[in-house]
Amino acid sequence: MIKGEFVDAKIVLLPGDGIGPEIVEQAQLALQAIANRFGHQFSFESQMIGGCAIDETGNPLPDESIEACRAADAILLGAVGGPKWDDPRAKTRPEVGLLKIRKELGLFANLRPICPHADLLDASPLKREIIEGVDILFVRELTGGIYFGDSGRRNEGGQEVAYNEMNYSVGEVERVVRLAGEAAMKRNRRVTSVDKANVLEVSRLWREVAERVIRDEFPEVQYDVVLVDAMAMHLISHPADFDVVVTGNMFGDILTDEASMLPGSLGLLPSASLGEPGPGLYEPIHGSAPDIAGQGIANPLATILASAMLLRHSLNLQDEANAIEAAVASVLDEGHRTPDIAAGREPVGTTTMGKLVTDAIAKAS
Ligand code: IPM
Ligand code: MG
Repeated sequence: MIKGEFVDAKIVLLPGDGIGPEIVEQAQLALQAIANRFGHQFSFESQMIGGCAIDETGNPLPDESIEACRAADAILLGAVGGPKWDDPRAKTRPEVGLLKIRKELGLFANLRPICPHADLLDASPLKREIIEGVDILFVRELTGGIYFGDSGRRNEGGQEVAYNEMNYSVGEVERVVRLAGEAAMKRNRRVTSVDKANVLEVSRLWREVAERVIRDEFPEVQYDVVLVDAMAMHLISHPADFDVVVTGNMFGDILTDEASMLPGSLGLLPSASLGEPGPGLYEPIHGSAPDIAGQGIANPLATILASAMLLRHSLNLQDEANAIEAAVASVLDEGHRTPDIAAGREPVGTTTMGKLVTDAIAKAS
């Protein structure tokens, strides 16, 4: 797509469970405000995923949802899960729907940027001097590793044993590390690969391949490796030293939740799940927050920022993506806060926060 060109995009919404529908609605309004301001046309279609889909159809990801997603230009997802579907003996789980859509669409790379907003440095439980200057892009492998290995239960000597296999192929590591290298070339040209190569064979393969891909294809990128346990420590002792961090599925899941405390709230962090070819999927990194669902107090900013990533990565609309990010920054600059980041200020609710952002988008035109 050429810059300035009219874009007619089909966006599938997967609101999901808990606060999902509330926050996706606000992100949809922000996208609509962008379409109005820049003269594009976005059409939206809602589909089911997660617990609500189980209730309705018995399936956390009905075929109809998959087909709609395949036909879309991009997908915006809220969150899945909740205590209602948590019974360990249940036939299926909401999370199965999320894992399945990632796998079905080949979304092997999950981008999770961690860049604390200057006005929110005091919302973090960490000291200001530790988080100042933090700007990390996590690239988490999303369709392989232990999440997708063979699993089950067997009887061993009269005792029940459960197992999950962790596998990575050379090709799976190559493509995600390559994507991390490409991202680093547009940033500060540093890649840190995180593994557990002192224990796991899978990590030794990961390390070999990661080193080769960066050395051969990105000679200008400074590369290092860190063991995952040490990384957990570095992330809170000197997070500003990292640029792009690439790692496997489960390590990435855990480290990005930890990293979310740098900006102070999970409610601010978007993510993009990308693969080739086909639509990308965009979602906040937080969950469905069933404890606050329906109260109108959830922070919609992570999902609104995910819609900015959608514009940037799936629709190639850079100015439009920047406009959303600028609108969010201006609303925070003005001091508006949802309860999760209020830190003593008078908080605003979900729809008010959404309205402030859409107004800021419209006002800037
Ligand atoms: C995430 C979530 C999911 C994951 C769950 C809900 C399956 O924690 O996107 O980080 O583990 O990938
Ligand atoms: Mg997670």
